[in-house]
Formats: sequence, C-alpha cells, structure tokens
Amino acid sequence: MPKEIVILRLGHRPQRDKRITTHVGLTARAFGAKGMLLASEDQKLADNIADVSTRWGGNFYVENNVSWKAEINKWKDAGGKVCHLSMYGINLPDAVPEIKECEKLMVVVGAEKVPFEIYEMADWNVAVGNQPHSEVAAVAVTLDRIAETDHLRDEFEGGELTIVPEKCGKKVIDNR
Ligand SMILES: C[S@@+](CC[C@H](N)C(=O)[O-])C[C@H]1O[C@@H](n2cnc3c(N)ncnc32)[C@H](O)[C@@H]1O
Repeated sequence: MPKEIVILRLGHRPQRDKRITTHVGLTARAFGAKGMLLASEDQKLADNIADVSTRWGGNFYVENNVSWKAEINKWKDAGGKVCHLSMYGINLPDAVPEIKECEKLMVVVGAEKVPFEIYEMADWNVAVGNQPHSEVAAVAVTLDRIAETDHLRDEFEGGELTIVPEKCGKKVIDNR
C-alpha cells in the first residue's frame, strides 16, 4: 500500500460544494490519507477540517488554494504517482495491484467537469465502477481497496475526544 496518500480536490465551488468537499476531506482522513490539497480558495473549509483533527486526533492537513498543475508536477518530480478517479476510467479492481506498488499516491477527484489535461497527466484514470456516483464514495472505496491494513481500526493520536464503541448509546472520553 502507498505509504503516503494525498487527495487533490478540483473544481470546488465554495457555496455549492462546501459540504461535499468537507466530506471528501473527512473521509480521506478517516481512511488513511495524510492530507488534502484544495485547488480553490476556501480557508474556512480548511479551518473546519483542521478543527475536526484537533477534536478527534491525527495530523491530517488541508492546503488551501493550490495550483493543481503545479502540485501534480511537484508530486511526480518527487517520484509520486497520480490516480484520477472518474467513472470513465479503468475499473478499480483492475488497477489495484499496480496502485498498491507505488510509495506515494495522489488521488484526484473533481466536482464539476475536470479539465482533460488531468486525464493525460494521471498515471491511472480509475473508475469505482463505471456508473456515476459521488467523489466521497469514490475516495472511500478506493482507499479501502488499496489498503493493506484495516483503516476502520486506526487510532488517531492526540485528539480531545475519543469514542468508546458501544452497542447502544454514545460514549465519548474527554481527554482534555
Ligand atoms: C459527481 S461527479 C461529477 C463529474 C462531472 N460531471 C464530469 O463529467 O466530470 C464528481 C466527481 O466524483 C467522482 N466520481 C463520480 N463517480 C465516480 C465513479 N464511478 N468512479 C470514480 N469516481 C467517480 C469523480 O472524481 C468526479 O470528478
């Protein structure tokens, strides 16, 4: 499994997409990614995700207002691979063995239509099934399928709050 995974979120429109982009970030965090690069200006969204990390632990980061082209080039120059998630790509199960071999993986997801250059710059254009659905689902299923360990059992260090799983009810430890 790649040791370092980042998400590159394209096409985020602050008014329209804030909820879904927040969910892309939180899902990526919960499923083992190190951070999210946001190719739009939305500092408030980045701050909201940072607040979740403070409360619930771990070191997930968000970089706001990046240039997607510069980030992809920088990533590839550093030996990283790029996987663009699109319903038009090759189906995920066919790409998993190759993806698992890389050390550093950037997972690109769109909101509105993605520039065609992304398809050309990506090492893999991958479909999580060739049906339209959601970038949140696409990120979750991809990170789960390429994982070597079960991220549902990850512990997030240093959080203010920790949930104790219960059959019924909500048990939360306040570590402050
Ligand atoms: C809701 S879709 C909109 C896509 C846009 N209408 C287009 O034609 O590019 C937003 C994002 O969800 C992701 N997505 C949706 N369905 C997917 C699928 N079946 N496999 C992989 N990614 C998917 C892609 O990253 C896509 O850019």
